[in-house]
Amino acid sequence: MTKGRFITLEGGEGGGKSTQVFRLAEKLRRLGLPVVTTREPGGAEGAEIIRKLLVSGDPGRWDAMTELLLHFAARRDHLRRTIWPALERGDWVLSDRFADSTMAYQGYGHGLGRAVVEQMYTLVLGDFRPDLTLILDLPVPEGLRRSEDRGGENRYERMDVAFHERLRQGFLEIAKLEPARCVVIDATRPMEAVADAIAAAVGSRLSVSL
Ligand code: TMP
Repeated sequence: MTKGRFITLEGGEGGGKSTQVFRLAEKLRRLGLPVVTTREPGGAEGAEIIRKLLVSGDPGRWDAMTELLLHFAARRDHLRRTIWPALERGDWVLSDRFADSTMAYQGYGHGLGRAVVEQMYTLVLGDFRPDLTLILDLPVPEGLRRSEDRGGENRYERMDVAFHERLRQGFLEIAKLEPARCVVIDATRPMEAVADAIAAAVGSRLSVSL
């Protein structure tokens, strides 16, 4: 059992996860809590190298299984180098994406299915789970429009709309299957309202007053 807390922010493209990780970190630090912010794919030196392979190039560069393996290889490095040591120290770790993205993108989006992703999860992570997962949900066209406006399009943003619709439904299904861990946040609202909803969820689920 680790001493810290592990919170993940999840969802499709353009939901504002990175901004919200930053906002939540500020709020927790104001309480004097030690906070580490990180992201996936990436968050450690080796994992960032693997990230480049995943987010650049042609949409069809890898088949679904290869993507699954690369995401889990990056995740294992991220856990060993960054997440587990921080949790051991008692830090609060906030990650912009984690394993639910693999379930949604590779499991639902690419159609590998839940069972394959779950097997890989157990092999690589055992029974390690986030304490809380916030799923930032918004309609696909709006999310893709927002991420396009932001510029710097990645490989996944070039995949078709049906792929993005499947992964959105995937995230919503994950939340239904694991209500004790997951909270769905309506990300169509203004940034401040989303930040407040996140603070409320963290406050009530993890017993802190934000
Ligand atoms: P980012 O742009 O949100 O940082 O994430 C990079 C892309 O990687 C994003 O489009 C989602 C995708 N992704 C997966 O397909 N599977 C995963 O397991 C993770 C963590 C991300």
